[in-house]
Amino acid sequence: MSASPTTLELFDQYVIPTYGRFGVRIERGQGCRVWDEDGREYLDFGAGIAVTSLGHCHPRVVARMSQQLGQLVHTSNLYYTRPQGELAKRLVEIVGAPGKVFFCNSGAEANEALYKLSRKFGNEANGFALPMGGTSNPEAPLRRGIITMNGSFHGRTLGGIAATGQDKVKKGFEPMVEGYSHIPFNDITALNEAAEARGTVAVLFEPIQGEGGIHPVSPEYLRAARALCDRRSMLLLFDEVQCGLGRTGDWNGWDTLAPDVKPDAVSWAKGIAGGFPLGAVWVSSRLVQLRNGEVKPLCDLLGPGTHGTTFGGTPLICAGALEVLSIIEDERLLENARTLGKYALNALRSLCSPWIREVRGVGLMLGIELAADFGTRHALPPGKAPSIFMVEKLHEAGLLTIPSGTHILRWLPPLNVTAADVDEAVRILSSVLGAL
Ligand SMILES: Cc1ncc(COP(=O)(O)O)c(C=O)c1O
Repeated sequence: MSASPTTLELFDQYVIPTYGRFGVRIERGQGCRVWDEDGREYLDFGAGIAVTSLGHCHPRVVARMSQQLGQLVHTSNLYYTRPQGELAKRLVEIVGAPGKVFFCNSGAEANEALYKLSRKFGNEANGFALPMGGTSNPEAPLRRGIITMNGSFHGRTLGGIAATGQDKVKKGFEPMVEGYSHIPFNDITALNEAAEARGTVAVLFEPIQGEGGIHPVSPEYLRAARALCDRRSMLLLFDEVQCGLGRTGDWNGWDTLAPDVKPDAVSWAKGIAGGFPLGAVWVSSRLVQLRNGEVKPLCDLLGPGTHGTTFGGTPLICAGALEVLSIIEDERLLENARTLGKYALNALRSLCSPWIREVRGVGLMLGIELAADFGTRHALPPGKAPSIFMVEKLHEAGLLTIPSGTHILRWLPPLNVTAADVDEAVRILSSVLGAL
């Protein structure tokens, strides 16, 4: 009898190789820890790239989803289901402004809804309705341009790679979807200049760039972007897929930076359902002036038949997401993210290692930038990025972290991480750096 193939053999033979995977074969998880197929334990400071926001297998999530699993899993969006309605209400409360929510399955898909909303707005509306009622102009030029940022990441769909401000995701997939222009991140002058281009309809950015290496925009930038969009009747769109729903120590990443600013629409995914695939967008109910003379809320522009998905917002996943959001509240995890984020930041900064150029972060979204000459000083093999080298060394020492670009390590632990977990992670990093 032939031996059954190993996990790596299965992947080699049967899984399309879109990912450069690390060698770790994870079998189970509990809290902030996972175990591999050989029973080896790892401290999980990646949380599935900011997804398992309560760690693995939180007992309340397991109980709520098990109950829902036995009650109703899926119906399609042809019918009404209570958990989807309740989750939409909860998300509107989290934004703190009137609007409505659409559910999908991932971050890229949530951003697709933002692009389609922008197209509808640019094709069918003249802009926001003035408080006293605007005037419609069916002859006004159409607006289709979306401004996004250098270094951004918005997902792997054709729209997502066109929106993303990194060439590496576009290579080989040309021609790009039209209509996106990229500008330097966090540069108010560049933003105002780019908006002068004829036909610009929206600005999209991550309040804190994640894949780009943990870079927040300044509060001034957020306010300037809001003022610009108001002046020119453009949509202000935030991609909160990585930084949203608690990671920064507030429900919204932008709240941590400038709580007085509100976007016109937001995308979420990752941490929203603690590990189950769910994406969502919130769209404001601000009134828009349509070219045909009608006035309607922005959130009703994507009307019946204009957008959809089979799986988005199933009762199972919405029930899980509602439980995740309740636990974040009940266990005071926003506060924990703020406190432990500061604690980790201070501990990392006090390492004072010559291998570290900078440590930065907001809440539990932390970036450790390695020294620029790390690769040459360490004589890394050609093509081996220092970030990948370090992530592998940390794996060997029992700590999971996420690389970002060539020189940055991200720490994105669950929101219920403890000071003892942080101490252990810092100890592991310190000993790996010390042994270099
Ligand atoms: C800010 C941001 N937007 C969008 C995405 C794409 O999300 P997904 O991988 O769920 O499609 C990501 C994923 O890393 C992200 O970080």
